[in-house]
Amino acid sequence: RRAPLLAPSFLAADLANLQAETERLATSAADWLHFDVMDGRFVPNISFGLPVLQAVARYAKQPIDVHLMIEEPQHYLAAFRDAGATNITVHYEACPHLHRVVQQIKHLGCRAGVALNPHTPVALLEDLAADLDVVLVMSVNPGFGGQAFIPNTLKKVAMLKELLLDTGSDALIEVDGGVSLDNAGPLVEAGADVLVAGNFVFSAPEGPVATLARLRKHLD
Ligand code: DX5
Ligand code: ZN
Repeated sequence: RRAPLLAPSFLAADLANLQAETERLATSAADWLHFDVMDGRFVPNISFGLPVLQAVARYAKQPIDVHLMIEEPQHYLAAFRDAGATNITVHYEACPHLHRVVQQIKHLGCRAGVALNPHTPVALLEDLAADLDVVLVMSVNPGFGGQAFIPNTLKKVAMLKELLLDTGSDALIEVDGGVSLDNAGPLVEAGADVLVAGNFVFSAPEGPVATLARLRKHLD
């Protein structure tokens, strides 16, 4: 079993101090910086977008993992790349022409990811898996931080791992939502390569740097 990448989510950071938050993550065990974009249409909440990503990117030392919870993401891919995205993940449920969107992301020079809502079966990725760099499994319903982890995710990650082997895909499996010390171990056992964590990392009294170090030590 390989140690997973850790991706703290800015959604749970102190948004009034983004420079300080980004700088302290720069010296932490974070491997990627997870950036949640919500449009109030694909999900029932609005977070932040391009200008905020640009501001974060000025201080970021790690790759920025942009999770687009928006409708018609194809119109904004180049703008997110230009604003500093390393990885761009779009939702399966938001893209009737998902194959084209994935090619567009790769053409921009970004890693391409597809996110699956909790009700979306992994089997739907069979014909696209080999083209993907990342598959993001939502372990909560997207739209809000701080929700409870959906236990069925463990089974889903294991099934996805099998599908990736069967299709010869080297995509990373990323899990997003309600991740903490309670489920990180089993998730990695099941096949998760990247763990996103928002509230667990930023709400801990000892702060994000110590919490990420604790998570890293727990998983090593
Ligand atoms: C939810 C977002 C997540 C969120 C995770 O819609 O995609 O990235 O920030 O936050 P926690 O870890 O608090 O569930
Ligand atoms: Zn996310």
